[in-house]
Amino acid sequence: MTYAVVTGWGKCLPPSILSNADLATFLDTSDEWIRTRTGIAERRIAHTGLTDMAEVAARRALAAAGMAPSQVELVVFGTTSFDDQAPNQASGLQQVLGATAAAAMDVNTACTSFLYAWSTANALIRTGVVKNALVVGGEVISRFMDWRNRNVAVLFGDGCAALVLEATDREEGLLGEKLGCDVGGRDALVIRGMGSRYADFSRRMGVTEWVFDGPEIFRRAVAGMARAAHEVLAARGLTPADVDLLVPHQANLRIIEAVAQKLSIPAERAFVNVQRYGNMSAATVPVALVEALEEGRVRPGSLLLMPAFGAGLTWCAH
Ligand code: UT7
Repeated sequence: MTYAVVTGWGKCLPPSILSNADLATFLDTSDEWIRTRTGIAERRIAHTGLTDMAEVAARRALAAAGMAPSQVELVVFGTTSFDDQAPNQASGLQQVLGATAAAAMDVNTACTSFLYAWSTANALIRTGVVKNALVVGGEVISRFMDWRNRNVAVLFGDGCAALVLEATDREEGLLGEKLGCDVGGRDALVIRGMGSRYADFSRRMGVTEWVFDGPEIFRRAVAGMARAAHEVLAARGLTPADVDLLVPHQANLRIIEAVAQKLSIPAERAFVNVQRYGNMSAATVPVALVEALEEGRVRPGSLLLMPAFGAGLTWCAH
């Protein structure tokens, strides 16, 4: 049986920090409100495009894996904030890396995009289509933000991380996943102003407006992530007590705490970095995973549980 083991990892966070106090200079908000409602203290804002951030993260991951760009067989890029409508983001990364032997595809399921990308690459390796893959989760949300809207402007940030996966006979890597979409919540998070719906010149293409029902997303996110987590563990005869580290989507500290509580996973077994980066959408789980590795909180053989949710409302647990 073939599996797809993680052999390299790398991240890229833009250096510019936007603090809660900075936001309060142009929005009717406060550091106290943002911290108590979300746990977020600051977030990063990219001064480059997504391809540049992804190149740094990918080169770090490839160096860790000891793999040359020319050896990469597949690039799967999870993102909602790609540089161009076409060609896709994965081919842009392929070009700057010089990964000329690779196939290149994007996956867009909003905040769950990285985990869906991982599932896609994992399946293509396990079925023998390719022997390795570079899987990326990255976003430049700041370019699509409605900076007049305090309901959303305080929540999001930019970032990117990448993993290298390679075929192996050992039972390692992604051992199971549960994927779904709570389409009843589809209208709870919509970014208007991008896409063919806005290309008729009577509307303002590129001027975004966020439709965002925070409490509705909150409820559905907690329920969806907890259910997916229980199901993916049960499918392998495991329980939350077997999990060494919870590495969840980082949207709101209160959502992470509610999911951990539903799973009876104590706070010390949950990885949290939302206070430093806010919600980086597709980049949250891979950046959290890379930082958990860097901090020595993931060891060979560790069992990780990675639940997430995003617009759609897509949900999953890996
Ligand atoms: O990855 C998917 C992305 N989506 C999410 O992660 C969203 C999930 N939802 C959440 O994280 C939370 O629902 C929020 C953080 C968005 C909001 O927290 P909440 O405890 O559900 O607050 P609320 O929406 O009930 O708003 C409470 C109050 C409202 O005022 P009134 O109506 O009570 O007078 C808001 O207008 O807080 C107000 N408010 C703010 N005040 C200061 C909303 N945003 C802000 C703000 N600063 N930035």
